[in-house]
Amino acid sequence: MARFILKDPFYRKAKQEGFRARSAYKLKEIEDRFHLVHKGDVVLDLGCSPGSFLQVLSGMVGEKGTVIGIDILPTPPLPMKNITAIEADIRETDFPGLLSRFSLTAVDTITCDIAPNLSGIREVDDAHIQELFTCVLKVVDEALKPGGHFIIKSFSTGIQKPVTAELQMRFRKVSQYKPAASRSVSSEVFFVCVGKKTVTGPKSQVSG
Ligand SMILES: C[S@@+](CC[C@H](N)C(=O)[O-])C[C@H]1O[C@@H](n2cnc3c(N)ncnc32)[C@H](O)[C@@H]1O
Repeated sequence: MARFILKDPFYRKAKQEGFRARSAYKLKEIEDRFHLVHKGDVVLDLGCSPGSFLQVLSGMVGEKGTVIGIDILPTPPLPMKNITAIEADIRETDFPGLLSRFSLTAVDTITCDIAPNLSGIREVDDAHIQELFTCVLKVVDEALKPGGHFIIKSFSTGIQKPVTAELQMRFRKVSQYKPAASRSVSSEVFFVCVGKKTVTGPKSQVSG
């Protein structure tokens, strides 16, 4: 394992450049390709610890922008003034209430790099991923402004098809993207969702 990590160029690069995780480069690649985040934006980052997305987003939104992160685990403090990291479970968080603490009703972009603890038992893992995805969609419905963008990490699971359908119902354009910084052995892929629709049509539950 140690040898594998030492050989990983993105891990080494993250260490050298002061990023807390190699995930920073996944988000940078997505942004280089899709150009979704702008100076002055407000971005909500779900599953933010240890904080490499926050570090990247802080630079993207600039000093007039705001980055709000949330994670079930603590996020070690970061020096950038435009970042607030909150320790909480997204399944139990009142997002409209949280945004009102920042005098906001909606954000420009939501990023989600949440990784649930997987058991290796397909049915159990699919059910857990499904529960989390349903919560994340609720956050998108409640906290993302019309026209806003959404980037979510997904894994190849039994719920991939309904996940795509739910996203296509809510966004003008949905693309799948696997950054070079994502390990080739990993089944992870990012859904990049552009332009939240004002009317999403009938809401449905994700089912397997
Ligand atoms: C891959 S890490 C995120 C890395 C982060 N994007 C970065 O760049 O530093 C996934 C995170 O999802 C968080 N997570 C898992 N379930 C969660 C939940 N229900 N609510 C909030 N965060 C959760 C984990 O605690 C973990 O920190």
